[in-house]
Amino acid sequence: MFTTMKNNFKDSEHFHLSWTFSKLIAFFFLLVSVSYLIYSLRFVTHSYDCEQQNPLPLVSHVQISPSIDDAIEEIPKPSDETNISHIVFGIGASAKLWKQRKEYIKLWWRPKQMRGIVWLDRKVDTDSKDKNLLPPLKISEDTARFSYKNPKGHKSAIRISRIVSETLRLGNTEGVRWFVMGDDDTVFVTENLVKVLRKYDHNQFYYIGSSSESHLQNIYFSYNMAYGGGGFAISYPLAVALEKMQDRCIQRYPGLYGSDDRIQACMAELGVPLTKERGFHQFDVYGNLFGLLTAHPIAPLVSLHHLDVVEPIFPNVTRVQALKRLQVPMKLDPYGLIQQSICYDKKRTWTVSVSWGYAVQIFRGTFSPREMEMPARTFLNWYKRADYTAYPFNTRPVSRHVCQKPFVYYLSGAVALNNVTKLEYVRTESNPECRWKMEDPSQIQRIEVYKKPDPHLWDKSPRRNCCRVVPTKKKGTMAIDVGECREDEVVEL
Ligand SMILES: *[C@@H]1O[C@H](CO)[C@@H](O)[C@H](O)[C@H]1NC(C)=O
Ligand SMILES: *[C@@H]1O[C@H](CO)[C@@H](O)[C@H](O)[C@H]1NC(C)=O
Ligand SMILES: *[C@@H]1O[C@H](CO)[C@@H](O)[C@H](O)[C@H]1NC(C)=O
Repeated sequence: MFTTMKNNFKDSEHFHLSWTFSKLIAFFFLLVSVSYLIYSLRFVTHSYDCEQQNPLPLVSHVQISPSIDDAIEEIPKPSDETNISHIVFGIGASAKLWKQRKEYIKLWWRPKQMRGIVWLDRKVDTDSKDKNLLPPLKISEDTARFSYKNPKGHKSAIRISRIVSETLRLGNTEGVRWFVMGDDDTVFVTENLVKVLRKYDHNQFYYIGSSSESHLQNIYFSYNMAYGGGGFAISYPLAVALEKMQDRCIQRYPGLYGSDDRIQACMAELGVPLTKERGFHQFDVYGNLFGLLTAHPIAPLVSLHHLDVVEPIFPNVTRVQALKRLQVPMKLDPYGLIQQSICYDKKRTWTVSVSWGYAVQIFRGTFSPREMEMPARTFLNWYKRADYTAYPFNTRPVSRHVCQKPFVYYLSGAVALNNVTKLEYVRTESNPECRWKMEDPSQIQRIEVYKKPDPHLWDKSPRRNCCRVVPTKKKGTMAIDVGECREDEVVEL
């Protein structure tokens, strides 16, 4: 590539040098005369237009018609924006784990509003208590005729990768704009999913999702792949195109591991790239998600996955109880859920980091926003012996210094006042003793966070919300206001 470009440069130099001075002069005069000719012609046509416009009312009448169309368009009509009814979910599930996993689906599934199917490998016992709490169940088609040659994976991958096509073949797709795939241990924040899909034209080919948190996973699979557990969306026409070729495509990749890499292989054949949305979370990590959930990218939280693998997101409760707690703020202000804001208590020189609806941290001393927006490594790598920084994003170590350990306040309650939400966070763990002279945050037992819900948060250019420590007379309490940054408001000490 580079050699060719160099040669081209040389050629053009020779070309310029071979021009003689007299040729240049001749060219100059030619240029002037042509420009003059064009200029005069323009003048002629222009004056012609002027003469014609007045005596031709018919023309202006014709010209009015576009503005009539405009007027028609202004008459309010039902919004054509994508909403939850335009999405069909396809949940890949297995009979073996159904009893536990269905609890995750119940958390986010709203039977009257949502469309979708849980695809199982075989029949399961149904519980009458679950009636109307889960999507309809179906058994996937037999895939015995397909070859599967990956020594580490499981053949169910083929069954799961065909869910979109099978759903499409069932018919009943009126009004469907998007197919969204997820696992039985994926929890969606559906308001945010809708918000994200609304940005894209469902009449075009789109394949939307996100990568793994493990750099090695992304190398082994692909950075161009939407991880199935984090969930991904395929636009309707793309699903139609996929259905036509998928069974042939699957036969070409018997050595692949999973269902999502099989989808990606077919996407590559179709030439459709991954559109990355950072709110889909595969969560290929172990341990505690705290670091990731307190420094979320500035993007709507769309999904959480591997919830059986990681610790419960709130301490001292079960996994499902913890996720239920997260749904309280989610109902009040889904777009703001786990969005970070960073501010300072200037008098006491503390840094405050809010993850709205989840946790608040107070740090002694001043940390810059560029440090605070990096997730702390409270979690472990999916490949346990991998480099502990091998994530496709920046992370920071958890400080070992007793004085730098943050004071953590977890969500404990939420209320909606008139037009503001008030969330309460309490401290459940004690901090080690620190001898710094600076004021001790252990005096703060409770934090109240006030925030006005912002339905248009994601309709604007992405920007982190601002927070401010506000005065309060309540003992042992810190009050914080979270909201859109004011004019000239920046996070600085
Ligand atoms: C979704 O949009 C359609 C129009 O495309 C509309 O008819 C329907 O009422 C909307 N549903 C909801 C739940 O907003
Ligand atoms: C954990 O939960 C148990 C039982 O619900 C309770 O007795 C205990 O106080 C809790 N511990 C903390 C630190 O919240
Ligand atoms: C809440 O609404 C009231 C009346 O609609 C308004 O006066 C007030 O300023 C609002 N408060 C906030 C925090 O926006």
